[in-house]
Amino acid sequence: MEAINKRRSIRKYSDKQVEDEKIDKLLRAAMQAAGSRLGSEPWEFIVVKDKNTIQKLSEMSPNAKLVSGANVAIVLLANMDRVHYPLVWQQDMAAAAENLLLEASYLDLGAVWIGTAPVQERMDYLSELFNLGENIRPFNIISIGYPAEGQENKFLDKYDETRVHYEKY
Ligand SMILES: Cc1cc2nc3c(=O)[nH]c(=O)nc-3n(C[C@H](O)[C@H](O)[C@H](O)COP(=O)(O)O)c2cc1C
Repeated sequence: MEAINKRRSIRKYSDKQVEDEKIDKLLRAAMQAAGSRLGSEPWEFIVVKDKNTIQKLSEMSPNAKLVSGANVAIVLLANMDRVHYPLVWQQDMAAAAENLLLEASYLDLGAVWIGTAPVQERMDYLSELFNLGENIRPFNIISIGYPAEGQENKFLDKYDETRVHYEKY
């Protein structure tokens, strides 16, 4: 639970390498996500450490610029061959993405979700970059590294009681 409370979006990273064991744990956490029967857990992942490719990811759109400072980026993809009901794929993918972010917080890594789907332009950019087939849809990029000095996962109370309704709205 501590990992949930202290998770923050971290956008600046140190030069420290993210260990392969930690990358493995991030992927395992993502794949432990709840997945709907209709979406059938469509997730696949591209782990990117190559600096040139990381640079290309950062050029996807203005919101992706910060990826250029990442040590690792993971691109989340949905394989639509596994999806039984097209409208649910993004819900399954979001569950996997959040699990990955929480594991990053648990491992004292910094990470942030880079919005991609449903913006067609961004999805097309990634499809072209990785030469993805029609059945593979890019969902988002998660930018990862050890937090730079002054950046840290820390508790920020986001609880708002006015948003909670008991028994009726
Ligand atoms: C669907 C989604 C898309 C997001 N896209 C971006 C993005 O493109 N760039 C970015 O810096 N942060 C992005 N974020 C991170 C949010 O800005 C961040 O979660 C929010 O400001 C709350 O801050 P916190 O994560 O530290 O609690 C995204 C988050 C979500 C859930």
